[in-house]
Order: sequence, then C-alpha cells, then structure tokens
Amino acid sequence: MPDIDAEMVHTPVLLSETLGLLGPERGGLYVDATLGLGGHGEAILAASFETQLIGIDQDAGALTMAGERLAKFEERATLVHSNFSAIREVTHNKEVDGILADLGVSSLQPDSETRGFSFRFDAPLDMRMNPQSGTETAAELLKRLSQEDIANIIYQYGEERHSRRIARRINERRERGEPVETTFELVDLVRRSVPHRPKDKIHPATRTFQALRIAVNDELGIIAKFIDDAVNLLKTNGVLAIITFHSLEDRIVKHTFQRLSGKCSCPPRMPVCQCGAIRKVEILTKKPVVATETEQSENPRSRSAKLRACRKI
Ligand SMILES: C[S@@+](CC[C@H](N)C(=O)[O-])C[C@H]1O[C@@H](n2cnc3c(N)ncnc32)[C@H](O)[C@@H]1O
Ligand SMILES: [Zn+2]
Repeated sequence: MPDIDAEMVHTPVLLSETLGLLGPERGGLYVDATLGLGGHGEAILAASFETQLIGIDQDAGALTMAGERLAKFEERATLVHSNFSAIREVTHNKEVDGILADLGVSSLQPDSETRGFSFRFDAPLDMRMNPQSGTETAAELLKRLSQEDIANIIYQYGEERHSRRIARRINERRERGEPVETTFELVDLVRRSVPHRPKDKIHPATRTFQALRIAVNDELGIIAKFIDDAVNLLKTNGVLAIITFHSLEDRIVKHTFQRLSGKCSCPPRMPVCQCGAIRKVEILTKKPVVATETEQSENPRSRSAKLRACRKI
C-alpha cells in the first residue's frame, strides 16, 4: 500500500453540486456506493452530526485509505468491501435517505505500479478493481475472447478507431504462442497498430486501456440494475445521484432514470406498454450537471464528469 495522503490524491468531483442534490445536512442514512478515497463520503458526514454513511467499495486498498480519513466520524461511518451490485444485501434492505455513485476508478488504481491499470508502469495485465473477486484479468480476457469480440470492446468502450488492427495483432501474437500478458506488451502492440499523430494529446494506448478496464470490471453491465435496486431502497423523497465519466455510462443512467420516471420507450405502434416504465421517481437534472470552468481548470478529471439525480416519489 503506497503511503499517500488521501486528501492529496483525490479531489472529489462536482462536490457542492452533489451535496446540493443529496441534502445530507438534513441528517439521515446515506450510502456512498463508490467510496473511493472518501472525498464525497467525508463531506456527507461533515454536513450534519445526524448523518450516517454506509460506504461501499470493491477495492480493499481504497477502503483502507477511506477508513483512515473517516475514522474521526467513529460509528457514524460503516465501511463495506463489496460490489455495489450487492447494495441491497450490504444495506440489509434498510430504507435510506440518499445514495451516491461516483463511477469509474479512483486515482489509487491508475497510480498503482503493480495492478496493470496504467500504460505508465510495466505490470501484469490485471485491471481488476477487486483482485480478490476471482474474476478474469485483462490478460485472461485477451486470451479467451475472439478477435472480433476484442475489436468490438476496444471500439465500443474505448472509441478507438483502430480497434480492428489492434485486435488482429493481439490474435497474431497469441497464435504464435505469445499471448499479451503485461501492460508494456500491450502498449508496444498498440503503438505499432495506431498511426502516430503528433497532434494527439493523449497516449496512444489510453483508449485501449480504458476499454479493457470497463470490460474486465463489467462497469456498464451492472449500472441499470444498481439504479433499480437503489431506487427501491430510497425512502420517499430520498435522492439517488450518479456521476459518470463516459458517454456510454451517462446514456445508461439517463435512460434508466427516464424509465423509472414513467417515460414509455415502446415503439409508437405498440398497443400496450411493454417496456415496464412505471413512475417511481422525479428526475432532478433535466440536463446533466457538469463542472464549472474553475473546477475544470483545477481538476482535469472533472472535465468529462456528468451528474444526474432523481428523487423517489
Ligand atoms: C471515482 S472513485 C470514487 C471517489 C470518491 N467519490 C471520492 O471522493 O474519493 C470510484 C471508486 O468506486 C469503486 N468502484 C467502481 N465500481 C465499483 C463497483 N461496481 N462496486 C463497488 N465499488 C466500485 C472503485 O474501486 C473506486 O474506488
Ligand atoms: Zn413502454
């Protein structure tokens, strides 16, 4: 575990906007489903002596650091090592006043030299946020999937135009009995597959690494069910707030909120609604809330952040 000060390495994104929607100053029980380094969690707990927080993270390292940061709140903070897809089990189905999910990675993960999230460090290609989960690593995924599936993942989750060429090179390597097993092997392969564009501001492997991380952790597959479960846990007037960093994530949040607000998405000629739209929430953010220019200049990570929230009715 690196010895770093949690407050130095993670500035919570859209903090005042999130607090404004959740209203933790009124007291009550809140869930931070992605506790990370505890930035948002700390602010929720500091808002009132009457506020309690259940903090969930699937990364045990993050949870340890957040635990130190939140120790001053004593028994008002409960930390649970779990995937937020198990939010109902974690909370024992207790009704809550507000739920926050700030999706994606914390700085701890890409800054780790050993966990394979970053093209900056040579490491086994792992990328699991929860290495104890026993699920597939990125290297195992690249061994198992077909060339076409690899290309689709890199294209869809990474928006990488050269996904097919990258996937073909991955396949050629493994057919030679040399599967891609480390970050630097993948970086080298991507560099040779993507034409060099001097104007590019990002590292050529950025998109491929992001795509693999999303696939390894099934980051998109669990969002819709999480939202359904979270809304079921909320008390009337309780608020669910979600911060996303990727257009695909934001689209899932937007559409799931719309369905839960009763907006039918059936084709116009369908005689009876089949999509299951029932009005359970009021959407509080017609458009997603984005970071102010000041926040964007101070914290580059906030530039792609989008916050949406809904209130249980
Ligand atoms: C962007 S960080 C959260 C930062 C936090 N809001 C703060 O202010 O410090 C996202 C965190 O969510 C965790 N995470 C991502 N997906 C998760 C999931 N499905 N279940 C539980 N934790 C998850 C990651 O391990 C990471 O620590
Ligand atoms: Zn419908």
